[in-house]
Amino acid sequence: MACPRFERRARSAPFLVIMMSQDIEATIAYLMQPFQANIGGDIHGGEIMKLIDNAAGAVALRYSGGRVVTARVDEVQFIYPIKVGMHVTFKAKLAYVGNSSMEITVAAYAEDLTKGDGSHKAVTAFVTMVAMNDDGSLKKLEPLVIKDDEMRALHEEMEQRRAGRHRRRG
Ligand SMILES: CC(C)(COP(=O)(O)OP(=O)(O)OC[C@H]1O[C@@H](n2cnc3c(N)ncnc32)[C@H](O)[C@@H]1OP(=O)(O)O)[C@@H](O)C(=O)NCCC(=O)NCCS
Repeated sequence: MACPRFERRARSAPFLVIMMSQDIEATIAYLMQPFQANIGGDIHGGEIMKLIDNAAGAVALRYSGGRVVTARVDEVQFIYPIKVGMHVTFKAKLAYVGNSSMEITVAAYAEDLTKGDGSHKAVTAFVTMVAMNDDGSLKKLEPLVIKDDEMRALHEEMEQRRAGRHRRRG
């Protein structure tokens, strides 16, 4: 069973998965529903984090070709309020591949379709997903092929973040 799960319960928001660009990016779009919000109409932060996990999971599943688990969600920043009725697009991108782990950046863009003022960057986060074999052991991943300068810069940034984490852990 893959994790994060793509829930199919009646209360779940409808979503659309679009895989793009060498299977390392995913875009998932949602229309925010009342059950996802507090009484003020703001979408719960935890709800947004679940959707971030879904977007990162889509990239990780596609790249690893098997079961993945979330190991870490870092630096979630809520930048712009997301309200009921807004159309929110989560863009996830594979930035670094280790032995069995994948570092994925996620950014969410929110748009009030009634206003026509375009979309606003609403949330950013970093997610680490780990690939597993069916027997629960860690799965060795294919190295990420760096195709351009943008990918190289992101890859180096992630390498430094990862090294910093390892230093802190000792
Ligand atoms: C994530 C997990 C598989 C790591 O297992 P582990 O035996 O500790 O594995 P290791 O320490 O050898 O680490 C394996 C990889 O994961 C990475 N990793 C492990 N813990 C991490 C963490 N907290 N943050 C970031 N990366 C982490 C390691 O850096 C390593 O990367 P690499 O293979 O690319 O070098 C394990 O801790 C686990 O199953 N956690 C629960 C996951 C879960 O339930 N998630 C929520 C539901 S999906």
